[in-house]
Amino acid sequence: MAKIRSVYICAQCGNESPKWYGKCPDCGEWNSMQESVKAPEVSAAAKRHMAPTVALGEPIEVITIADIVADESSRLHTGINEFDRVMGGGVVRGGVSLFCGDPGIGKSTLLLQISAPLCMQGKKILYVSGEESARQIKLRAKRLGVNSENLLIASVTQVGAILAAVERYNPDVLMIDSIQTIYLPTLNPSAGTISQIRECTQLLMGAAKSQEIPLFLVGHVNKDGAIAGPKVLEHMVDTVLYFEGERHLSFRILRAVKNRFGSTNEIGVFKMTGAGLEEVENPSFEMIAGRPSGVSGSAIAAVIEGSRPILAEVQALVAKSSFTAPRRVATGFDFNRAALILAVLEKRCGYFFGNLDAYINVVGGLRLDEPAADLPVAMALISNLIDKPIPEEYSMFGEIGLTGELRSVSHAELRIQESLRLGFHKFIVPKSLMAHLHSVPQSATLIPAASLTEAFRAVFSVS
Ligand code: TYD
Ligand code: MG
Repeated sequence: MAKIRSVYICAQCGNESPKWYGKCPDCGEWNSMQESVKAPEVSAAAKRHMAPTVALGEPIEVITIADIVADESSRLHTGINEFDRVMGGGVVRGGVSLFCGDPGIGKSTLLLQISAPLCMQGKKILYVSGEESARQIKLRAKRLGVNSENLLIASVTQVGAILAAVERYNPDVLMIDSIQTIYLPTLNPSAGTISQIRECTQLLMGAAKSQEIPLFLVGHVNKDGAIAGPKVLEHMVDTVLYFEGERHLSFRILRAVKNRFGSTNEIGVFKMTGAGLEEVENPSFEMIAGRPSGVSGSAIAAVIEGSRPILAEVQALVAKSSFTAPRRVATGFDFNRAALILAVLEKRCGYFFGNLDAYINVVGGLRLDEPAADLPVAMALISNLIDKPIPEEYSMFGEIGLTGELRSVSHAELRIQESLRLGFHKFIVPKSLMAHLHSVPQSATLIPAASLTEAFRAVFSVS
């Protein structure tokens, strides 16, 4: 009889190996190999005596792509605009979405909240929790004001039981909180291991796709912020959403990092309140509320998140270092990008940070990934270094090149309009952009600058 074999699967990249390694030979991750049981293999001798397992059947029916009906209007709309937008304009039937985020960030809360409007539309939702009891879910739902006959709660962890429930109750939406708690009893190692996550997801996806039910999976993240499970989980699902934010701040940002049915640039902004998550319709206003006045080291960045312009406050603090290697800390901004900007400021503009600590922070928990945030970061750093505040009417955007030049960025008009709406009417604009600006309102004052040095001269009146 064939023997049951153990294999070791890397939690990071899904690499399989017959031997355990401390470091994955494929992706180089340490301590990521997990033991899993492999189905017995049929010996070559037995195979020779077996009839072919795949018999050719009748040819399948195929249809031309033009004949397939895929109507955008068949999406489910929750009415929670911040959520629908991130999903690409509503929830696609049969679409599988993975929600990830730190513990306590609000994943379960968000799922319950999107259930409410769907239930109101008469959609039946099956919410399966492997983490909380039905009573605990009820307590939370009460707090969120969610109460509907259409919301079915099950507190199970066995994937077979979930599939049976789907068969029996025929829900319009299936939510699994969380995929790491679900297990298939015939597969040995316990819930949460790579093979369990992979198999259970496959089974649930099969049901979702065949019955055209949207499936939401909550996924835990490990200490590095990656999804706890093989990378293949990300490949399997249609949409991967990250719910981010600082736990002690109330802002929560929902970001799609993969979306087969929409853009991955869109973000949804929420605020955690005593009664659950609240949509933030005017994020710019919230992000810059409470900005200190007349203080050096603060700049307003006009960035684009998806299709929306958002204003954010960038703060910088430069202080004498008591360490041999000065500290560089960037929160909400890429660390390497910050190092590059500091190097350009030293080499091209003559501002030295050699023995100074430099801290950069984007207020409100927003993360600025766009190159357009370079200029405000550099401005905030220099403002604090020379201790001169940036006048309050300024908003800015622009990419910094390695020679210290300012480079143009897209959607300048949108950025300018949003800034004007919030009372900022002076703009440092990359000079190369000027020829492309056609519909800028009269109330905006544009100050073209070809380089960082020119920008500093204009704002701080330095030579
Ligand atoms: P939860 O949805 O349980 O997080 P996750 O499922 O991502 O682990 O969110 C729990 C946190 O949200 C908890 O710290 C309390 C807070 N919270 C509120 O502030 N207000 C509320 O109305 C609810 C339901 C939760
Ligand atoms: Mg939860």
